[in-house]
Amino acid sequence: MQAKSWGLIGVVSLGILGVGIAIGQSRPTMMGQSARHSGMMSHGSSATKLVATKTASHKLALPPLLKPDQSNAQSVAYTVVAQSGTMAFKAGRKTRTLGYNGNYLGPVLQVKQGQTVTITTKNDLSEATSFHWHGAVVPGKVDGGPHEPVAAGATKRVKFKVTQPAATLWFHPHVMGSTAKQVYQGLAGLIYVSDTASQKLKLPHDYGKDDFPVIIQDRQFDAQNQLNYDKAYSSDGTTGPTLLMNGTLNPYINVKTKLVRLRLVNGSNARHYQLTLSNQQAMQQIADDGGLLAKPVAVKKLALAPGERAEVVVDTTKLAAGQPLAVMVGKQAVLNLRLAKHRQTSGRLPANLSSLPTPKTEGAQQQSLTFSGMGHMVAINGKTYSAKRIDLTAKVGQPQVWTLKNAQGMMSGRSHPFHLHGVQFRILSIDGQQPPANERGWKDTVDLKSGQSVKIAFTFKNRGIYMYHCHNLEHEEQGMMGQIKVS
Ligand code: C2O
Ligand code: CU
Ligand code: CU
Repeated sequence: MQAKSWGLIGVVSLGILGVGIAIGQSRPTMMGQSARHSGMMSHGSSATKLVATKTASHKLALPPLLKPDQSNAQSVAYTVVAQSGTMAFKAGRKTRTLGYNGNYLGPVLQVKQGQTVTITTKNDLSEATSFHWHGAVVPGKVDGGPHEPVAAGATKRVKFKVTQPAATLWFHPHVMGSTAKQVYQGLAGLIYVSDTASQKLKLPHDYGKDDFPVIIQDRQFDAQNQLNYDKAYSSDGTTGPTLLMNGTLNPYINVKTKLVRLRLVNGSNARHYQLTLSNQQAMQQIADDGGLLAKPVAVKKLALAPGERAEVVVDTTKLAAGQPLAVMVGKQAVLNLRLAKHRQTSGRLPANLSSLPTPKTEGAQQQSLTFSGMGHMVAINGKTYSAKRIDLTAKVGQPQVWTLKNAQGMMSGRSHPFHLHGVQFRILSIDGQQPPANERGWKDTVDLKSGQSVKIAFTFKNRGIYMYHCHNLEHEEQGMMGQIKVS
């Protein structure tokens, strides 16, 4: 089992100064691309303003790579324990937290395409939880949704074969009524899927050297330094003014290589981000939620909705040592890249990354889902979630084409990050237009902005009951979720 604490982070706090930064929810503006409708009009966000924390900077905490209980070419076994702990995020009182195999967040589970994975999940909390593998293409029975709770003190073992390509996935709880709170208090971990095709590309992949996970979360610390969910709660999405990256306040990384890969994960309950580089340089996006894109895509402004992931490569070749470089959210530097004088050449950015298949749509079953409302009034096709009701059915192997609509007016509505379990999909169109180049890969989460209509295509490979829902976790808890039975 992992050592209990993987980061004593944050000691000096100088209080909060800084400028509030409103977070817009517009789409990426890309080189040579036109952006999705965005920005100019009110985005109906109810997010609190972000405030830069004027703490001393701290080295970005790195989630430990979880040591397998057993591993060989065909199989790997892990033990994941949900537990409570404390963290010294800032000066003063320690913060009570939840974590996997540690105090806050969780480790990285590394799995290979073709391997059979066994995960012993153990709940050391005083309440039920579940272990959901977000983005994993797995049978419904082992997906860890609301139908597979693990009671306090209980252990459950799941086993599945990894069939999907290399990707950055994540895991988190999914019990009805406490998903949002448990995630807020720290339950979220990473799964790295690797495959031989992507290994041949020689992308930066040296963990913590030229390849960094970056889990982005916003939190509200109360006067006692606690993450008081009930106090921070908003029915329209719980947000906080303080950003944590991998649980680190005001983080930096030492960059000793010319190329650096960032695996960005929006693990926030409800906040959307638009990430830029401080020197206006484009990031090269190489992957989205479910794997590599066909080619790197230059992205100046990267939008990440709750649940979404994006892998980017930042090329520092032309920058001088000591030149300030940071990942920004609005005007706030949220991750500083400290450039070493002599940066090594390690890893490369190939012109082609993967050969994405054309989405199958022939003979597809069509479904249409309309997302409406805000706060306590959210619904999908006018209904709120019931564990006893199967909303949709599908067959393994039959192509699906779903039209996802955000029914809200463009001026007032909330955006709803749609997420589907057990499968990776492709975006066919957004408001009738081809999706931007960086959204043409495998996806499991797609943001539906007010008034938008997004068409997706996919094919279930496994049987079971799967959830689909808004990944604004408070909307999800309020019933913006449905279930599909795949047989
Ligand atoms: Cu990330 Cu249904 O969850
Ligand atoms: Cu999921
Ligand atoms: Cu929503």
